[in-house]
Amino acid sequence: MKEICVFGSLNIDMTLFVPRFNAPGETLTGTGMQIFTGGKGGNQAVACARLGAPVRMIGCLGDDANGAMYLEVLKKEGVNTSGMTVCPGITSGVAFIEVVPSGENRIALAVGANGLLTEAVARAHEDAIAECGVYMTQLENPLEAILEGMRIARSHGLQVILDPAPARPLPDEAFALCDIVTPNETELAILTGMPADTVEQAEAAARTLIARGARMVLNKRGAAGVLLVTESSATMLPGFKVNAVDTTAAGDSFNAGLAVGLAEGQSIEDAIRLANAVGALSTTKAGAQPAMPTRAQAEALIAGQR
Ligand code: RIB
Repeated sequence: MKEICVFGSLNIDMTLFVPRFNAPGETLTGTGMQIFTGGKGGNQAVACARLGAPVRMIGCLGDDANGAMYLEVLKKEGVNTSGMTVCPGITSGVAFIEVVPSGENRIALAVGANGLLTEAVARAHEDAIAECGVYMTQLENPLEAILEGMRIARSHGLQVILDPAPARPLPDEAFALCDIVTPNETELAILTGMPADTVEQAEAAARTLIARGARMVLNKRGAAGVLLVTESSATMLPGFKVNAVDTTAAGDSFNAGLAVGLAEGQSIEDAIRLANAVGALSTTKAGAQPAMPTRAQAEALIAGQR
């Protein structure tokens, strides 16, 4: 099996557990605070490694204590870090996350070194990207670098997954460069300017992304499952019900499960089943990476549904 290449962001997550989201100007006392390694790219890479897949991470950390700590975590998890750059004179990315008892979260970011992941960095890693089988990226780094990385991956025949988070309007080229785009309802609405609350609305919105060049749209709809839209079909694939404690990185974990399934040569339906199981399990503990499941845990959840 070829390596999965994750091109993207790494943050240190400062997670505050709060009884509810507070109002503007209000000071609210939380029930606890924890610090986790996170960032959408780093989360995807760690989740792939937990599932036992060979994975390399291309990204930027600052030359601060957080960066040094994160690099050690990646190595310990078994992620290939030869594509990581430690950038002098800048802090690592930091995310400030509030989590309420239902497991929902709110995130605000300081991008730090993630802003230094440039087109030049993508080009410098072209040979390594060319050796991989699946390429996965998100939107927490400069857009030109993201597009250049996708161009390189596509030119070498990799399967390209775009996790459009945090969502922002994108040029058509972004969709033409990817095989699969994986928005949740909110992201789909931002990408298309169309509502995506119901399955019917989401299918209509997804069709506009297909028209702009995406080969497949996977609309993540939480516990309800995934709406898979291609040029000729729309299918709802069921999710898994679990007790959610913290939904941070559920999307990242989903994408990792998808990448691992595809890298193994699974059908898209089987890869989505694995992705749904990994995404669901990732919500069952606090923090982005602590709850990311092993392959055995994901397979056990899948077996329980059959
Ligand atoms: O998707 C969850 C991630 O979003 C968090 O780990 C945080 O760092 C932000 O990037």
